[in-house]
Amino acid sequence: MARVGALVDLLLFYTLERSLFNRMVRIIGKTSLEVKRTIALWLVLEEIGYHDLIRTIYSYDNKTIEALSNEALQCLECMKPDALEPTVLHDNPVFQGLLDEPMNFRFFYYNREFIYKRYMHIMETVCNKIFGDTAAIEVDESGLRPVVRPFIESSSAAAINVTPRESNLNAEASEFHPTQSPEDAKTMFLTFSKGHPLTREEIVNFFTSKWGEVVEDVIIEQSRLGQDPQFGRILFTTSTVIPRVLNGQSKAKFLVNRKHLWARIYVHRHGGRAGGLLNRAKQV
Ligand SMILES: *[C@@H]1O[C@H](CO)[C@@H](O)[C@H](O)[C@H]1NC(C)=O
Repeated sequence: MARVGALVDLLLFYTLERSLFNRMVRIIGKTSLEVKRTIALWLVLEEIGYHDLIRTIYSYDNKTIEALSNEALQCLECMKPDALEPTVLHDNPVFQGLLDEPMNFRFFYYNREFIYKRYMHIMETVCNKIFGDTAAIEVDESGLRPVVRPFIESSSAAAINVTPRESNLNAEASEFHPTQSPEDAKTMFLTFSKGHPLTREEIVNFFTSKWGEVVEDVIIEQSRLGQDPQFGRILFTTSTVIPRVLNGQSKAKFLVNRKHLWARIYVHRHGGRAGGLLNRAKQV
């Protein structure tokens, strides 16, 4: 029972996502696989600090959600192993109005290795468990057991009890605290304004002047197509620098030599399922 309870907790925690899944499949007409992929990518973005992204998206009208979902699917295309570097033609901002910093397909291409890893993790540990083939998994009337209610318009469908296999649930329990590489824990994403890139030296000097000898490395996007860099990553000597840089926020925005610099976490740092559940429960 405790194990089934773990899946029920997961379902309750992702109540909003399950509702969005059903809406996107039934009303907006996306396939369940497209919706699964879309929501997995949005969950990765929430993880790296775009808090409340899915709640905001849920509040939009159907057409806007469809457009945002199409963008998410295109972002995923940019992360495929054989993806080509996005060209200027794909330089338009994505998820406009949702994020307050510039984001485009190049962000996903540049950071594809990391984001894809997180995406697959969320797909396996969350999306594959809470979404069924035609509808999201539900919790039964008792609030204790997961059920699959196939989406059939006549509503004559009988609920099917789901008793997940033990091995799945054990995996879920451990994977909720994914092992992150020590490098990941010391890394932040960097974003510049379009057309106003910062150099490696400017970034190193900036962080050193504010926090001392904390920079291990800075990597800047190198466009083979001659575009100005817009993204980068900074690796600190220790992960304890990051809370100081963020100062309680989910991202930091700086003005460096009169150019904007956004820095955000690379791995969700407040992890831990219990903490997440509590935070989330308040909002649902
Ligand atoms: C989405 O479409 C459905 C079905 O047409 C409609 O009932 C619902 O009000 C729409 N939601 C929004 C927020 O536009």
